[in-house]
Amino acid sequence: MKKITAVDIMKMKAEGRKIPVLTAYSAQMAKILDEAGIAMFIVGDSAGMVEAGYENTLPVTVDEIIYHTRAVARGRQNALIVSDMPFASYQVSPEEAKRNACRLIKEGGAEAVKLEGGKRMANTVKAIAEIDIPVMGHIGLTPQSIHRMGGYRVQGKTRTDAEVIMEDAYAIAEAGAFSIVLEGIPGNLAKEITEALSIPTIGIGAGAGCDGQVLVVNDMLGLNCDAKCPKYVKKYADLRTVITKAVGEYIKDVEEGRFPSKENTY
Ligand code: KIV
Repeated sequence: MKKITAVDIMKMKAEGRKIPVLTAYSAQMAKILDEAGIAMFIVGDSAGMVEAGYENTLPVTVDEIIYHTRAVARGRQNALIVSDMPFASYQVSPEEAKRNACRLIKEGGAEAVKLEGGKRMANTVKAIAEIDIPVMGHIGLTPQSIHRMGGYRVQGKTRTDAEVIMEDAYAIAEAGAFSIVLEGIPGNLAKEITEALSIPTIGIGAGAGCDGQVLVVNDMLGLNCDAKCPKYVKKYADLRTVITKAVGEYIKDVEEGRFPSKENTY
C-alpha cells in the first residue's frame, strides 16, 4: 500500500469510496491500525480523556498532542496523520493558530490539523490552509464547546439549528478545508451536508450518509466504555474483559508460584 495524503482522502470521495478513520495516540496502536488498513488517523484531543483521564478535552495542551503525534508517526507507515488543535491553541487569533498548526507539523510530524467550529472559525481555517497545511473542520457537537452546549448533546435537531450547521459546513469548505468531521448530528442532516459538499465528510454519531466514519479507538475496542457507552459506538471487541481475564490469571500465577516457569527463566 502507498502513503496516503490529504489529496488521496479527497479523491476517495470523488471515487465514491468510503473512508475508514480511527483515533490513535500511541506508536504500538498506530502500527496495528495502519497494518490493518486504516486510511487516516486523528490524533484527537480525546487522548486527554481516554489516555490521560481528564474529565473533558479542555485541559489538553499543544505539547501533549505533539507527544502523541510523534508516537503515532513512529508507528505508522501509510495512514494520513491529522492532529487535533487543542482548546485555546487556535481560538485567540489566526496568527496564534498558524503558529500552533506549524508546531504540530514540524515538531509532531502531523500532515494535517483539525479544529472545531463553524462560520466563526472560517478565517482561521483559511489562514492555516493558506500556509499549505491541510485543515480538517469539525462541526455539530464540538466537545471543546461543552460549556456553551451544556453537555455532550446532539446538535441540529430543529430546522433552525440544522440550517446553522449547514451554513457552518459551507463556510468551512469554502475556507479551504480538505475534509470535515460531522459529530453528533441527525443522520438526515449529515447526509444533506455530505451531498452538498465536494470535500469528504467524516461522521461520528452522524449516521451512514457520511463519506467516512471515525470512532475513538479505545471505544470501538471495548477498552473505554461500559454500560454508559454512547449509542453511536459499536464495540468491535471487548478488550476490557480480555485484559481483566489475562491480568487475573497473571495475578493467580504469581501468587501460586506458576510464573515465572522454567521457560521464562534464564
Ligand atoms: O478528539 C477526537 O478524538 C476527535 C475525533 C473523534 C473526531 O475529535
